[in-house]
Amino acid sequence: MTDLSGEATLSTEPVSRVIQLSDTHLMREPGGVLVGIDTDRSLAAVCRLIGQQPAIDALLLTGDLAGDESESAYSRLRDSLAALQVPSFWLPGNHDAPQRQYAGFETHFKRHIRCPHWDILMLNTQRPGEVAGCLADAELAFLKAAVDHSLVNHRPVLVATHHPLAGVGCQWLDEQVVRNGAEALSILEPLGARAVVISGHVHQESSQVHNGVRCFTVPSTCVQFAPGSQQFKVDDQSPGCRLIELYEDGHFETRILRVDDESFPADRLSTGYA
Ligand SMILES: [Fe+2]
Repeated sequence: MTDLSGEATLSTEPVSRVIQLSDTHLMREPGGVLVGIDTDRSLAAVCRLIGQQPAIDALLLTGDLAGDESESAYSRLRDSLAALQVPSFWLPGNHDAPQRQYAGFETHFKRHIRCPHWDILMLNTQRPGEVAGCLADAELAFLKAAVDHSLVNHRPVLVATHHPLAGVGCQWLDEQVVRNGAEALSILEPLGARAVVISGHVHQESSQVHNGVRCFTVPSTCVQFAPGSQQFKVDDQSPGCRLIELYEDGHFETRILRVDDESFPADRLSTGYA
């Protein structure tokens, strides 16, 4: 997996409108299935939904892009998103290929995205061979430097990760969050309301405040997991994504968008996913 590196600058209206997509889990073959759901088809439905929105400035993909580490899955992901004609920025999840490099990844795996009034920071929480998340020293150092910069230039930050920095109230998933997430939250604490964290991995919507920082998770573009569950349990909500509007004065607004023109029933007899 290519490291997150480099910067991109977005020229947007004073309000930057970004969409978070997560846990697309595309398989090696088109039409591959996860917990009973064709992940290409559910991604296509979410892209259709995005295409119906007013203009979007960027897509942020927060990991578990491919379900089985195949190059074909990443190529199909790129093709699926291309139709939206919006720049897309990706970071890896625990299911993504940690050791492989694919042509064209550099375009997507950016470290820092500059909007007119906000900075978007992409962090890697993946630890090869592990399901749970962890921030390496280099990730924490990058975050600390960015926060120090923000305290000086007063530009608010949107931080994107795959694993959440803290639990969301599902015992089986809370064992997999970033194990040193408290350290990242304490780094962000001086920014308070001028920092926002968006994460994936848990395949469900959540909104919490930790150390004075708003932290959100997002539905997957395929199977959903049931909020409040002690162990693996699917949910019957539709695939979706998160819209985030970043305002010039430092405030933001966000809401979940869900597919409503096609149904994607999950296999309720499934006892887990690899
Ligand atoms: Fe994940």
